[in-house]
Amino acid sequence: MRLEPNPFSGKKRAPYPQHRRSPTPPTLAPKVPPDPSFPYFIHPHTDVITSDPHNNVTDHIFEKIGYNLHKRPDHPLGIIKSVIESYFDEKYGQDTFTSYDSLYPVVSTYANFDSVLVPPDHVSRSQNDTYYVDEDTVLRCHTSAHQLEMLKDGARKFLVTGDVYRRDSIDATHFPVFHQMEGFRVFEQAEWEEAGKDSVDLAAEELKDCLEGLAKHLFGDVEMRWVDAYFPFTEPSFELEIFFKGEWLEVLGCGVTEMKILEEAGLQDKRAWAFGLGLERLAMVLFDIPDIRLFWSDDKRFSKQFKEGMFKAGGVDMQKFKPYSKFPPCLKDVSFWLPKEGDSFTENNLCEVVRDVAGSLVEEVKLIDEFENKKKGLTSNCYRIVYRSMERSLTDDEINSLQEQVRSDMVSKLGVELR
Ligand code: PHE
Repeated sequence: MRLEPNPFSGKKRAPYPQHRRSPTPPTLAPKVPPDPSFPYFIHPHTDVITSDPHNNVTDHIFEKIGYNLHKRPDHPLGIIKSVIESYFDEKYGQDTFTSYDSLYPVVSTYANFDSVLVPPDHVSRSQNDTYYVDEDTVLRCHTSAHQLEMLKDGARKFLVTGDVYRRDSIDATHFPVFHQMEGFRVFEQAEWEEAGKDSVDLAAEELKDCLEGLAKHLFGDVEMRWVDAYFPFTEPSFELEIFFKGEWLEVLGCGVTEMKILEEAGLQDKRAWAFGLGLERLAMVLFDIPDIRLFWSDDKRFSKQFKEGMFKAGGVDMQKFKPYSKFPPCLKDVSFWLPKEGDSFTENNLCEVVRDVAGSLVEEVKLIDEFENKKKGLTSNCYRIVYRSMERSLTDDEINSLQEQVRSDMVSKLGVELR
């Protein structure tokens, strides 16, 4: 299973392979810390698709807002969420950690980036990576966007689960909307004094103990390892990997919270840890779900296989997902010259065009050939688009007309020259 290219993790600073053009450079100035009335929540009636020049939200993405798969008790994501919440109840006592799962996904750039110290030139701020509603407003790309507002609201131990949005390539494990859970715990001075420990050491040790326990709870007696990582909002930072079916799988990022964030919340005399994990990743592994699009499927053959309470600790003897027969894929290749100038063509932009035309009928978009014509000074790419429905057979006519639309949008929106 391919690892999530995590734009926040320093280990994979360059999330895109070399052949892809560099993302649009960020043109957006960072916001200065807001006055207290600066809105953290943007109310649901705010238009998400607007004519603002920064707006890059497509209909396909807009339709996903409000689905709240993580709030459905019989959905695999809802099941994993409540399993993790009950782990925290068991470990720390009922309701010690407060759970939030209804925070609106449209947030300010301040909340999404500045409040968690994401630098002004960080790749995640680019319009190639993030969905912008307008210059100051985005679809959150991680649940860390809520850390500071929760602290300012007085929360000290909390879990925040929600849908997050990232412009990304398309394949079986990547979808532009997925779900994360954030955990946050604040320590009082008395706690590290009582333990006779340095505050950072106490927080880091307790964090690792908590998350190793969670991994055992979910995966049973697995081999796991800690990998040093980098996040702008934590220091030290770690990633937890587990050895599952022959490979090391990154399951979460975490670390000891940067004091600057606590200071901003008036908690300069405290310490804290934070973690963030992807629910799809965990659910795919635990239930053996082969394709991330299945989470969005209405097909009864999918939904009837999941029931609240079906999870057994350690995944032992748990009912796995039984794949039903797949409908045949339909492959279409498109060859084109990249525009000579500008960066209107990126793989993410191409995926967005394809997704906007074909929605969840597109299974994969992959580069299969690339060459340079030195004389012409042009680069040619050939991409293969795999169309497949999870629910039915697709007709040739239907696919041909989708592909025609994709081709013409590639010319008008991405400035490529078809070959
Ligand atoms: N927000 C990070 C991500 O999306 C995960 C994270 C959360 C890491 C909290 C450290 C602390 O990749």
